[in-house]
Amino acid sequence: MLSTIFSFRYFLLPLNLDTGAQPWVDDKDISFPSGSVVVNVRTATTSDLDDVERIERGSFDRGRYQREVLRQLLSGEDFFTIIAEENELTVGYATVFCRKGCHSARIISIAVLPAFRERGIAEELLAGIENRGQDMNAHRLMLEVAKTNGPAIRLYEKHGFRKICELPDYYGSESDAFYMEKVLSEK
Ligand SMILES: CC(C)(COP(=O)(O)OP(=O)(O)OC[C@H]1O[C@@H](n2cnc3c(N)ncnc32)[C@H](O)[C@@H]1OP(=O)(O)O)[C@@H](O)C(=O)NCCC(=O)NCCS
Repeated sequence: MLSTIFSFRYFLLPLNLDTGAQPWVDDKDISFPSGSVVVNVRTATTSDLDDVERIERGSFDRGRYQREVLRQLLSGEDFFTIIAEENELTVGYATVFCRKGCHSARIISIAVLPAFRERGIAEELLAGIENRGQDMNAHRLMLEVAKTNGPAIRLYEKHGFRKICELPDYYGSESDAFYMEKVLSEK
C-alpha cells in the first residue's frame, strides 16, 4: 500500500510547483449558515481558476501548485474540486483525486483564505467531499498531512479520519507526514 502513497504536491514538482516563499460538474449546490452569513458550496469549473489560485497562494508557503497544475486539476476527469463561496466571494477550495471505478478518494488539497478560517468552512468542504465521494461509490477517503499542521490534523480527526502511519520526509527532508483515512462505507 505504501508504494501508492506519494505526494501529489511533490510528484508534480518538476512541472508545476511554486517553490517560492513558501468533468465532473453537477448542480448540487449546498447552502448553509456559517455564523451570521450564508456559505455556498458547489463544484468548481475551470472558470474558477483565478479564485482557486488566489486561495492556493494565500494558504501555502511552500509546495504551492502553479496555475497550470490547478487548471489541470480543475479539468481532469479523475479529479473534482469544490469551492466555498461567501457573499459571492470564493473563500475556500478542496480538490480530490477520485478515479471512476476506484473505491478510494484522495484529498489532495484543501484550503481556506486566512481571513475566513475557524468559521466552519473547511468542515463544509469536507462534508461536500464526502457527499460527492459517496455519489462516486468511494468507500474511503485518504489524505496526507504534515505532522506539524495541527489545525488540519484536528480538523481531520474531528471528522473521523484516523492516523494510519507516518511518512518520513514526505514533504522533503525532515518534514514528515501522517497518512490518514476515513471509511465511508464497508465494501
Ligand atoms: C486547515 C484549514 C483548511 C482549516 O480551515 P478552517 O475553515 O479554518 O477550519 P474550520 O473552521 O472548518 O475548523 C474545523 C475544525 O478544525 C480544527 N481547527 C481548524 N483550525 C484550527 C486551529 N487554528 N487550531 C486548532 N484547531 C483548528 C478544529 O477542530 C475545528 O473545529 P472546532 O471549531 O469545533 O474546534 C485552514 O487552516 C487552512 O486553509 N490552512 C492552510 C492550508 C492547509 O494547511 N491545508 C491542509 C493541508 S493537509
